[in-house]
Amino acid sequence: MTAPRNHIHPIYDRTVPQAEKEALLGQRGMVFWLTGLSGAGKSTLAVQTDRRLHTAGHLTKVLDGDNIRHRINANLGFSLAERQENIRRVAEIARLFREAGVITICSFICPTIEIRAMARDIIGPDYYREIHVSAGLATCEARDPKGLYRKARAGVIPDFTGIHSPYENPPHPDLRLETDKLTVEEASTRLVQYVVQEAIP
Ligand code: ADX
Repeated sequence: MTAPRNHIHPIYDRTVPQAEKEALLGQRGMVFWLTGLSGAGKSTLAVQTDRRLHTAGHLTKVLDGDNIRHRINANLGFSLAERQENIRRVAEIARLFREAGVITICSFICPTIEIRAMARDIIGPDYYREIHVSAGLATCEARDPKGLYRKARAGVIPDFTGIHSPYENPPHPDLRLETDKLTVEEASTRLVQYVVQEAIP
């Protein structure tokens, strides 16, 4: 049931503004959105980048599909409508982190141009950067780190991205990392450099 909005009084405008949080932290609150197929290397890159930025003295937070779906979004499946709701909630959470001045790294398949546009609008286009973690379906399927492609081919998992559910490549990402051509080290170095360029004054 939706609560009557006329009885809700947001206090956001009276809390410490993002700019003051950013001054405290010496960084800009921005969201780096990693999109790509399952097995493309999003989580690996998110973990590496989180560690490297933290070591360099920056405050970061990773939001990752598997973890979020285990907890706050445990009630959602993988129809396109449920993926959209998954991303809507995650984008709202990411927005809260960026308002707190945190460098936020989101790692989600986020399969369609439309769903990614929704995420960008919720987060705010000035604060959203799209990173395509790119590897061909054949590569991801050969890696199959969680054995999910095998199960999808066997018909055990329905609606699997790349098999029976779409993945639309981002036509104009801010950064594309081709993990079938780069080592994890090289890809995370590029991502760290990009984050520093965008989020560290
Ligand atoms: S999204 O499409 O809604 O953005 P999300 O990134 O949260 O997906 O979750 C993807 C993760 O869920 C994958 O890494 C995989 O481990 C797991 N998963 C389980 N079922 C599916 C499915 N049908 N399609 C894709 N990923 C799935």
